[in-house]
Order: sequence, then structure tokens, then C-alpha cells
Amino acid sequence: MTWHASVLTLFPEMFPGPLGQSLAGKALRDGRWAIDSFDIRSFATDRHRTVDDTPFGGGAGMVMRPDVVDAAIAAALAAGPDRPAVYLTPRGRPLDQAMVRDFVAGPGLILLCGRYEGVDQRVIEARGLREVSIGDYVLSGGEPAAMVLLDACVRLLPGVMGAAASGEEESFSPKGRECLLEYPHYTRPAEWQGRAVPPVLLSGHHAEVARWRQAEAERITCERRPDLWARHIETAGRDRAPAA
Ligand code: ADE
Repeated sequence: MTWHASVLTLFPEMFPGPLGQSLAGKALRDGRWAIDSFDIRSFATDRHRTVDDTPFGGGAGMVMRPDVVDAAIAAALAAGPDRPAVYLTPRGRPLDQAMVRDFVAGPGLILLCGRYEGVDQRVIEARGLREVSIGDYVLSGGEPAAMVLLDACVRLLPGVMGAAASGEEESFSPKGRECLLEYPHYTRPAEWQGRAVPPVLLSGHHAEVARWRQAEAERITCERRPDLWARHIETAGRDRAPAA
């Protein structure tokens, strides 16, 4: 079965957008995944096609109506059942690679993109929506967040990445360097604008290269992401500064 993404949005013309290009675009044309978008407004029932209303209790902004959102989710489920429904929101669980792997292992996703102040809490509960955030900042809508999540998923689908192994060594992969960020990369020319490539990379000494890369990955992680570094120390059962 093809991995199937359904996007529920007030701006269906935004999709596939950038996901129609490059790696994800080729995979889409090759039939490794499929995407459809549902215009939430087409599930409104009044003649003004209303999708939102003022919040009970007062306050600024508008809230998306539960009945309209629920009808859109029902339509997506009819197009492909048994898929988890995700609501993109800054108050969701932070997206990480483990979550992405989990989504990729399933039949696909239904992605609800909010606008305005968000969606009525009751439809989140009634549909058991998984709330997911792509980071601690606020976008004007869930659409770019849905694209981010889909891009992260699609590249892990079988046959999408050129070299099957290319996903395994990178940051956050389970087989690679646990929770380490990636080491720096270099290619030709060996000297550019007076900057030389680290000599060890030209040495042809594979064990030395591996040691240098590990040390660099540790140094960068320790410097930039103390949270990941702490997890690395824990999982690697070590208690030390990065390798020199
Ligand atoms: N919608 C608005 N901001 C968002 C974020 N940071 N993550 C997911 N969905 C969002």
C-alpha cells in the first residue's frame, strides 16, 4: 500500500507545493507516496461557508468550528482509513526523528492545518488528534509545519533516498551516532580562499577519519545542544568532555 498523506487546510492549493520538487517530488511521481488535500471550507454548511467563530468566554481571534473540522476529517478517513490524524499546533508535542520513524511505519497521515487561534478543543478530543509542534515559534498557520513533517517522513520511505544507507549515519538516526549532531563535511577543492580541508580527511586512514568525525560530532553537540549532549552521555554510559 502506498503511504498516503491527506492534508486538511483552508489553502489546498498550497499542496504539494515544495513537496512536488526534488526528492519528495520524484518519490511522488514514482508512486512511493500519495498526497491529497481537502478544502476545509467545502465542509461548511451555511451559505456563507463559515469555518470559524468567536471564542466562547471572549478574547481575540477566531476558533475553527468543531463540526466543520470533524466533517473534513471524516472525508479524509473515507479516502484512507486507519491513519493517525495529526493537528499541527505550537502547543503540540515537539516533532523528533523517533516520531517521524513511527509515522513512516504506518499507512500514512491525516494532517489538520489550523489557522486563526486554533480549532475547538472538542474535535481534538473526539477524534483523538495527535498534537504536534515543529518548534517553539508561532507560524501563521499549520501548512508549513505539515510540509516539514511530510518532508521528514517521505525521505525515510523505502526506495526514496538514493543510497539506502544515507539516512543512517546522520544526526538523530538510531544506528548512527545516537543523539549526536553531524560532523562537518568537506569536498574539493582541498584549499579554498586560504582555507584547507582538515589534513586527516586527506590521509586515507579510515580509522583516523572515523575518530576525527566522532570527536567533531561530540564537540559540536556539546557546544550547541547541551540537551542532546546530556542524552548522549547517558546512552553512551560516559561522563566526560568531548574527545579532543
Ligand atoms: N502552527 C503554528 N505554529 C506552529 C508550530 N510551531 N508547529 C506546528 N504547527 C504550528
